[in-house]
Amino acid sequence: MSVTVRVPAKVNVQLAVGAARPDGFHDLANVFLAVGLYDEITVTPSAGGPRITCSGPDAGQVPLDRTNLAARAARALAERYGRTADVHLHIAKDIPVAGGMAGGSADGAGALVACDALWGTGASREELLEICAELGSDVPFSLVGGAALGTGRGEKLTALEVGGTFHWVFAMAGRGLSTPAVFREFDRLNEGVRIPEPVASRDLLDALAKGDADALAAAVSNDLQPAALSLFPELADTLAAGRAAGALAGLVSGSGPTTAFLAKDASAAARIARALMASGTCRSARVASSPAPGATVV
Ligand code: C5P
Repeated sequence: MSVTVRVPAKVNVQLAVGAARPDGFHDLANVFLAVGLYDEITVTPSAGGPRITCSGPDAGQVPLDRTNLAARAARALAERYGRTADVHLHIAKDIPVAGGMAGGSADGAGALVACDALWGTGASREELLEICAELGSDVPFSLVGGAALGTGRGEKLTALEVGGTFHWVFAMAGRGLSTPAVFREFDRLNEGVRIPEPVASRDLLDALAKGDADALAAAVSNDLQPAALSLFPELADTLAAGRAAGALAGLVSGSGPTTAFLAKDASAAARIARALMASGTCRSARVASSPAPGATVV
């Protein structure tokens, strides 16, 4: 018997970052949008677990030890329900690794939902979301999908309305970026600067609710982008190539280094992806649309 759960990637259409808190985290106004690139997590009973395997083009970069968020999720749920996490978790990975698209968080949320279904714990959605928040700031959003405003360190979610389909192109970079390193660079670049409270942009929320791609393009922002560009300057070339190919907007996705380009429609997205691949400024380019559903048993 096994259970498979499909979990989407995310793009942050707004990432407003506040000053560093005493616990080292940053308060955020984080507008998450789930996109149709998915990891699939399959859980099977297996003595002596949790054991992790991974397949897919980037599988070699995924840690298969206890630090893997899928393994941590299985252990956290098992602990809460007084059992052992005797499972094999297989991750079919399609979300870029260390890319700023919440691929690790997706695996955490997917493993949690899969183990919950396999074990029949009867956990409430609130309990699952609580475990997600303990696993990482972006994990609760991977569970719920759609679109949401994340406050606190990003884990306190308010669902948002999305009035249409948005078409995206994602350009994968030749190497990853560490999220903590990007936040540290944000702190370094902002030393001595008074950082305002992060707040969600009204124009951006309206654009999402209307499904208006032009208005969304005018409103997207990412406060981590200067830090990501400082650590990975070549990303500026990728952003320029996507904009030159007709993207309505281009930005670094979350802490990067994946770059996200908003397109007018599906055919414009396909054209921009081809131009990005031909530009030599990225490893690969993929199209995907949003919103996408959260963690779902398939
Ligand atoms: O919560 P998560 O484990 O995904 O966070 C990874 C790292 O990113 C944290 O250790 C911290 O350095 C940084 N971070 C932050 N503020 C947030 C979220 C993450 O500084 N709101």
